[in-house]
This record gives sequence, C-alpha cells and structure tokens, in this order.
Amino acid sequence: MDNHWTAVTLSSNLKRQPLKVVLNGAPIVLFRSGDTVGAVADRCPHRLAELSKGRVIEGTIECPYHGWRFNKTGQCTAIPGHLSALPRYRVQSYKALEHQGAIFVSSGAPVGLPYAHGLQSQDVIVRRVQSTTQSTVIDAAENILDATHTHFTHKGLLRGLSAKRHKIKVEVTGSEGRVEATYTGEPRQEGVVSKLLEGARSKTVGRFLAPGIAELEYWGPKGLVLITSFHLHQSTNSIVKGVGWLVGPKRDVPTWIKAAFFKPLFRIALAQDRRILKSTQQNALAHGAPDIIRGPLDFLRGDIEAIMDGKRPPAADHPRTYEVAL
Ligand code: FES
Ligand SMILES: [Fe+2]
Repeated sequence: MDNHWTAVTLSSNLKRQPLKVVLNGAPIVLFRSGDTVGAVADRCPHRLAELSKGRVIEGTIECPYHGWRFNKTGQCTAIPGHLSALPRYRVQSYKALEHQGAIFVSSGAPVGLPYAHGLQSQDVIVRRVQSTTQSTVIDAAENILDATHTHFTHKGLLRGLSAKRHKIKVEVTGSEGRVEATYTGEPRQEGVVSKLLEGARSKTVGRFLAPGIAELEYWGPKGLVLITSFHLHQSTNSIVKGVGWLVGPKRDVPTWIKAAFFKPLFRIALAQDRRILKSTQQNALAHGAPDIIRGPLDFLRGDIEAIMDGKRPPAADHPRTYEVAL
C-alpha cells in the first residue's frame, strides 16, 4: 500500500478509449467516468481478460470477453445475459485523480492533492513533458539531480564547452520523504540553455521527494527562474516513466518566447540522459549487476535510496555541507 499519489500519464493520453498503464509491474486500466477517472486492475476477475482491450460504456469499463462491466470503485455492474440479482463481484480498484494535466493514482489512502510545486500560481507558464527511460527510479532521479554529469553528458547544452569549473557550496538537508541539495556560488552558466534562460544564477536547488519526484529549481537575483519537476515511477522493472512540468514565471513577453525554445532544448537534454541511463542499465545487466561506487560527489544517492526504501534519509538527521568545483 502506498499513500502517495503517483503521476502515471498526462491527461491528454486518456481519451474515450481505456488506457493501460503499468505501475511497479502491475497493469492498471484507466478510463473516464463522467468528470472523473477510474483506475482498476487491468485483469477481469472472471477469466482474466485485459479490461484495457475493452470499451468504456457509461463510465464503466466493459470486458472484451463476456462483457462484464466494472465501475470506478471496482464493483461489477453488469453480467450480460444474467437475469436475476447481480452477484457482488469486484476487481481491485485504485484511487485516481486528474490534476494539473496529469492522471495520478494511489493504491493507498493519500491525503490531500498530489504534489504540484509552483503550479498553483496564476503567473506561470507551464509546459508538460513525458518520458520513458530504460532505468530505475533511483538512477533516473539521481541523474536529474546530478550536477556533475552535465559537463560530459550535456556539454555545450547545459554547460559551456570549456572545462572551466567554479567553486560551489552544496548544502544537503532532508526530512521524512525528502532530501534537497542547495548549490550556491555558481556564476552564470555557459550552456546554450542557460544563456537563453537566465541572467545571473543565485542558487540552484535539487530535490527528491517520495514516491519518485525529482525537481530542480533555478533561482536568479529576481527570484525563481525555472522549476523542472519530474514525477517518476517504475513501470516494469526495467522501465521508468516520467511526467514532468516545466514551470517559469510569466514576468514579461519574452518569457513566452523563451518557453517556446526551452522545451525542444530540454527534450534534447532528456534524450542525452535517456541514452546514458539505458547504456548503464544494459551494461549492469551484462555484467551481473556488480556493486557501484558511491563517489565523493554523489551527494544524494544514499538519501534517495533510503527514501525509496521507505526509510528516513540520513540528511534529515545529519545535514551536510560540501565544497566542490562544478
Ligand atoms: S473474462 Fe471478463 S467477462 Fe469474462
Ligand atoms: Fe542530465
């Protein structure tokens, strides 16, 4: 049971047909039911047909095999041809909610709305993205939050072409289900994306939240410049899916122009990351998943692992400070 909301797909992917998603290896069928969304196990309890191959009828999901219907609470509401009282059959159901252009599900009893940082404000421009990566949530989240790979994986795009580095202070703090690294002392960055988006950078925050949210905040002298918030989930055991929000303040007209450029550039960076994550995963499998080194600059790995393990992250009790050259 997980009491978190997990973003499983963008709203725009769920049309009139049912949609299959896979969460931690469990196939789930999503379907529209009036203004709400239903989410039930993608497995008819009668003969285990895939409900996602069926149809949505009057807000219920109809099995493609014998036409049994199930509502969003999982209750069987029709057995075609059966004339007397309906037996009480059900299929496992999930809580589901459409929020901020995405569909969230939970197998537990989540309290409140899904986490949607920066999206409450009216004065923001939002772009949504989705991604599929051959990886794990831990590896993909670490990659998003890892400042030390950008010099190599994203050379020229997020970083300049020169090998010049600057001394940066990194403060790592945490609490239950949360770890965060704050980078200060960065000069303006040289990559194409940074040139396009920002003036001076005053700080960058990288944050990981249960159950799989990897978020970056870029701050300039005038305040928050950009948030990239990626909600990741393990689909099958080798595939990570992510729904992401790119959020920027609507300060002036050029912001719109910047936003138009930013998303395609962001997608290039995403493709670079997907390529390296896929190759590390395949290489790990090819070599029998040997142990990896937790290096001196891997600030968040241990805390992310603890959070994914349902444990309190070490940074919650022992905040840390580093000085590094980035
Ligand atoms: S398998 Fe679904 S109705 Fe028979
Ligand atoms: Fe990256």
